[in-house]
Amino acid sequence: MTQTLTLRRPDDWHLHLRDGAMLQAVLPETARHFARAIIMPNLVPPVVTAADATAYRDRILAALPAGMDFTPLMTLYLTEGTDPADVAAAHEAGLITALKLYPAGATTNSHGGVRDFDKVRGVLELMAERGIPLCIHGEVTTPEVDIFDREAVFIDTVLDPLRRTTPGLRVVMEHITTKQGVEYARAGGADLAATITTHHLIINRNHILVGGIKPHYYCLPVAKREEHRLALRAAATSGDARFFLGTDSAPHPDRLKEHACGCAGCFTATNTMSLLAHVFEEDGALGRLEAFASLNGPAFYRLPPNEARITMTKHAAPVTFPASIPAGDETVTVFDPGYPVHWAVD
Ligand code: NCD
Ligand code: ZN
Repeated sequence: MTQTLTLRRPDDWHLHLRDGAMLQAVLPETARHFARAIIMPNLVPPVVTAADATAYRDRILAALPAGMDFTPLMTLYLTEGTDPADVAAAHEAGLITALKLYPAGATTNSHGGVRDFDKVRGVLELMAERGIPLCIHGEVTTPEVDIFDREAVFIDTVLDPLRRTTPGLRVVMEHITTKQGVEYARAGGADLAATITTHHLIINRNHILVGGIKPHYYCLPVAKREEHRLALRAAATSGDARFFLGTDSAPHPDRLKEHACGCAGCFTATNTMSLLAHVFEEDGALGRLEAFASLNGPAFYRLPPNEARITMTKHAAPVTFPASIPAGDETVTVFDPGYPVHWAVD
């Protein structure tokens, strides 16, 4: 008997679309299934001002194939020089949905990030007043802190103090990877939510390191021990409104992933919905996939859920995905869960 599942069209609350030929290549992969996405601003140079966001939004819309229905939700990259008046105007004009905080040096193209939080106090206060969410890459960058501990240390030493000094600031803990992240999000009030990626529900750190180094499983925050993956699975499949999908689909040319100093990022836009259906079914939670992918995110962002529906079918034979997609002269490897998947979006 074929099994089908109908849900409201999903949104992706954390997505890297890049620019140029890469944008052209990856945008349809997301727009095929997702109605909206929070667009990460870590271009080179980053999307810092309202003018940058307008230009980037226009490039995204120009790259969207005719007939595809997709709305990019723009963000600004918070820097120590961000002007509160520019943020206020961009938000009032409906141009931006959120700001993104990268601690300086935390990940790909984050050197312009924040070092001294006192320098962004004015912007944070404005955001708290207006209810503009701050999306946070939650890792400390101090060299003394082990890379596997960076998220947990960030929560204690940066995130919690930041939220205490800015009451009312609405925060999205992006791509949480630890049970400490899950616990902190659960304990927060209505001002706090967390996104979870598809790949962190599937891989733990062994996938990266056992049997040879696997660059296509390397992303930031890096996947942690199995107990953390299980905590993320429990949170995502629980239906709890504080947890929702942010794929962090982050394409890099294979040439730069398969490299002595490989880039961080997993590209999951192509098969995310299939993988999520597999994961949720495995955990007996198919009925809660819609909450995770289509309802909890809009509720936090104070946007209506999508009216359109998608239907997914579980096929008897495994579904095949391309191993990679072309992007200009480059290729981008599609995330491989390492097991057969039978669900496909119709
Ligand atoms: C992202 C990228 O490549 O832009 N990489 C990643 O591993 N997730 C940056 C980020 O979101 O950390
Ligand atoms: Zn990201």
